[in-house]
Amino acid sequence: MTIKAVVFDAYGTLFDVYSIQVLAEELYPSHGADISVKWRDKQIEYTRLITQSDPHSPSGSQYFRPFWELTRLSLEYTLDRLKLNRQSGQVEKLMQQYAHLRPFSENLAVLQKIKAMGLTTAILSNGSMDMLNSAVKSAGMADVLDHLISVDSIRLFKTSPESYGLVQQFIAVNKEEVLFVSSNAWDALGATWFGFTTHWVNRQGLPFEALSPQPDFSGPDLNSVLDSLVSRAILVSS
Ligand code: LAC
Repeated sequence: MTIKAVVFDAYGTLFDVYSIQVLAEELYPSHGADISVKWRDKQIEYTRLITQSDPHSPSGSQYFRPFWELTRLSLEYTLDRLKLNRQSGQVEKLMQQYAHLRPFSENLAVLQKIKAMGLTTAILSNGSMDMLNSAVKSAGMADVLDHLISVDSIRLFKTSPESYGLVQQFIAVNKEEVLFVSSNAWDALGATWFGFTTHWVNRQGLPFEALSPQPDFSGPDLNSVLDSLVSRAILVSS
C-alpha cells in the first residue's frame, strides 16, 4: 500500500472543539460541558440536513450555509435550548474563541515529521475557508500544510462523496494513496466508504461506529499516525 498524501479533518482532529468548554463554563457556570457537546452535535446535524435535503443539484445544496454561519446558529440554538441568556455578548465571545481553537499539543510536531517524510499534507474540512485560514494561522501550521480544502466550493458537506472527492482535485493521487485522518468516527467511516485509506484518532477511547468496515488504522492521538506510516511500512516514497 503506497501512501502519497496525508489529509486531515480539522475540527476535533487538529483543533480541539471541546476546548471552548472552558470559556463556556466561565460564561455559564455548570453548563460548559453540556454546551460544548450540544453545540457540536447540532452543528454537525445541520450539515447533514442541508446536504441530504438537496444532494444532487449540480451547484450544491440550495440550503447551503457556510460552516461559520452554521456554527453560530447551532450555538444560538443550544443556548436557547438550555434556556440560557445570550443577550450579553456571550455568543460573540464563544465564536471568537471558535475562530482560534486550541490545537492538540502533539499536532504541530507530527505534521512537521510527515512533511519531512516528503508526503503531501492537506486539510479537508466542512469549515469555511476563512475559518480554516484563521485556525491554521493561529496554530502556526501554515508551513506544514500544502493544501487547505474546504467544502465551500461544492456546497455539500461531509460525508457526501463529492466532499471527499475534492481531495483529488487538489492532489494527483488515487483514493487508496490518501491516508485520511479524522478523530470523528463518522468521518473516518465516510472516508473509508469513499475509498481512502483511513486512520481514526480515537482521543476519547470510544468504540468505533457499529457500522462496518473499521478504519484501516487507529490510535489514541496524532502520534499514532506516524506509527501507521512508519512501523506498518505503508510509506513508500513517491
Ligand atoms: C471538519 C469537521 C467535520 O473539519 O470536523 O470537517
